[in-house]
Amino acid sequence: MPRHFLRDDDLTPAEQAEVLDLADELKADKLGNRELAGQSVAVIFEKNSTRTRLSFEVGIQQLGAQPIVVDGRMMQLGREETIEDTSRVLSRYVDAVVWRTFAQARIDAMASVARGPVINALTDEFHPCQVLADLQTIRERHGALEGLTLTYLGDGANNMAHSLLVGGATAGMHVRIGAPDGFRPVEWVLEAARKRAAETGGSVELFNSPTGAVDGSDVLVTDSWTSMGQENDGKDRVSPFRPFQVNPELLAATGKPDTSVLHCLPAHRGMEITDEVLDGPASAVFDEAENRLHAQKALLTWLVRRA
Ligand code: CP
Ligand code: NVA
Repeated sequence: MPRHFLRDDDLTPAEQAEVLDLADELKADKLGNRELAGQSVAVIFEKNSTRTRLSFEVGIQQLGAQPIVVDGRMMQLGREETIEDTSRVLSRYVDAVVWRTFAQARIDAMASVARGPVINALTDEFHPCQVLADLQTIRERHGALEGLTLTYLGDGANNMAHSLLVGGATAGMHVRIGAPDGFRPVEWVLEAARKRAAETGGSVELFNSPTGAVDGSDVLVTDSWTSMGQENDGKDRVSPFRPFQVNPELLAATGKPDTSVLHCLPAHRGMEITDEVLDGPASAVFDEAENRLHAQKALLTWLVRRA
């Protein structure tokens, strides 16, 4: 059975650390690892993308493999072919599949019959590749991950909140979610994060006060208040979130001089984050975007070695 990366806890704490170490090595020696030479990787998108598409395409090429980037909306998958039949066919052509789709159940179905690794390039529930890059970035800034306090502010029920909960707890971090009532993480994800935190010494906490959530935080993270696919869900996705905007006042409310700020991008400047913070000295946002490339190269290499 191949190893997949469908959610953040598909890697154990030790395995996550191995992938992050490899990401650092690949970053230092950009073109030094061509161990995927002769292989092909399908990278399929059912939602828009800039970073994920470009970083996977460039990264796969740097590893010596051929990336095949496909608009999933043009595949037979978008008509009546099943996910499982699609996966069986892809397995005859490519060595790994990277997929950005909607419900997590879809990528679980893809992985269930795949002969090679399947990687989650964002689902409604998780964005685990992003969080590997986030962890690499935090480690660069703060030296280590274990014991740091990370606060995510915004929609606590979206893919980034969920992946930070599970991925951050796997790294032994104290993960806080600051979200308005009605936008709290889903219970089964909280359970998965608590389980990991119990193994690593991390913790998970929920806040509905932004200042309470950020007090003492080493890292603040935010994301769009409206994720792809939620544009017409009938919820007010602006006014409940306004107090959670990452601005200079909220950054100062951490009480720490060296807090870092992350955002997976794309950012809605003036909404979830202000220009001052995004373009200021606390921002690690563009290093974070760069690290998508290195973290994903490490992940692919690590998974293919075990396939
Ligand atoms: N952060 C992120 O996944 O960006 P894209 O949607 O541009 O891929
Ligand atoms: N939560 C956002 C992340 C985009 C990279 C979304 O799903 O649209």
